Amino acid sequence: MPSTPQHFGDFQQQIYADGLRGELPELPVTFADLEAGAEAVLPAQVWSYVAGGAGDEHTQRANAAAFARWGLMPRMMVGAARRDLSVQLFGRTLPSPLMMAPVGVLGLCTRDGHGDRAAARAAARTGVPMIASTFSADPMEDVAAEFGDTPGFFQLYTPTDRELAESLVRRAEAAGFQGIVVTLDTWTLGWRPRDLALANSPQLRGHCLANYTSDPVFRSRLRKPPEEDPAAAVALYASVFGNPLTWDDLPWLRSLTELPLLLKGLGHPEDVRRARDGGVDGVYCSNHGGRQANGGLPALDALPGVVSAADGLPVLFDSGVRTGTDVVKALALGATAVGVGRPYTYGLALGGTDGVEHVLRSLLAEADLLMAVDGYPTLDSLVPDALVRL
Ligand code: FNR
Repeated sequence: MPSTPQHFGDFQQQIYADGLRGELPELPVTFADLEAGAEAVLPAQVWSYVAGGAGDEHTQRANAAAFARWGLMPRMMVGAARRDLSVQLFGRTLPSPLMMAPVGVLGLCTRDGHGDRAAARAAARTGVPMIASTFSADPMEDVAAEFGDTPGFFQLYTPTDRELAESLVRRAEAAGFQGIVVTLDTWTLGWRPRDLALANSPQLRGHCLANYTSDPVFRSRLRKPPEEDPAAAVALYASVFGNPLTWDDLPWLRSLTELPLLLKGLGHPEDVRRARDGGVDGVYCSNHGGRQANGGLPALDALPGVVSAADGLPVLFDSGVRTGTDVVKALALGATAVGVGRPYTYGLALGGTDGVEHVLRSLLAEADLLMAVDGYPTLDSLVPDALVRL
């Protein structure tokens, strides 16, 4: 058993030590290589669904490119030999501010069809929380059972059927999830040319609907159980998915749970203020990795306005994070925690739980080593002034 590293950066010592025994890392350490590896192993439809985005994918590229417009100013002789990346979130201390963003097709990314549980096991190993999607090949209870001591969050695609929404939230509470993340930007699907070219919508093909088909309210709406009539279950799912929520719905959403409630997909400061006034516990700045609306702002450029409007509420961030240095930059711009979507999904495709663990540890090592070299030993020291706009 490898000893637990004192710093996330110690992961590189392990890699170099393995090299002395003639062993090379089994999995890539750059995003580009992960991406190429995942493309080689995933079925074409799954690859297109995961890698693709909205329109000509301008926003998707801009999300990642936005990080290159910021540089971290190096500070020397500040005693950065000891770093602390731990963060307080909703009354818990997390070892790092990294998170696994909700990804609705994890189940299709491993050969055994249980990618959701595989990712959850990586959460247990690394302490990196997973935000489990409504779309899941395994019921949320089975996913949560793999989290170990790491807190998990449940992402809700709010159905039009309010009783079903309530049932999903009740189940998430009972399964031990520590917060509910309501995604606002996907009440309808964005225009995704790669999926359109293959005429492929995984959920309409019946994939990753286990949270629906295992739900007592959902089942009660069907004449025959989903096991006997899967087509009717898919049709029911399609008819209840996608609630175009308005701010008038926020009191109802808030009333659903006493768990921390977060709204995902926010970018405009005014929306953040409304969310705050409506009693949410955190906001999640994201443009869905450029999968939903094209031609928009890189999510990173919206982050400072969101942080300012959040006025002290925790701000989660994702979209375009590809490296540990990207994580550090998002933290310096005010994010409380930073999510990745595609990077860990590619790790999952390449190596299951080990692959996700490898990606998460690589991201954390790079972030930690940047903070060491550039002299930012704590998250508190990462303030906007640490960044220079290039
Ligand atoms: C997603 N995302 C997503 N978000 C969500 O709230 N519920 C979901 O089910 C999904 N499903 C999903 C599937 C796939 C294949 C991807 C790539 C993404 C969006 C996700 O949570 C996150 O916002 C983005 O992935 C972040 O961007 P990057 O890290 O992929 O650039």
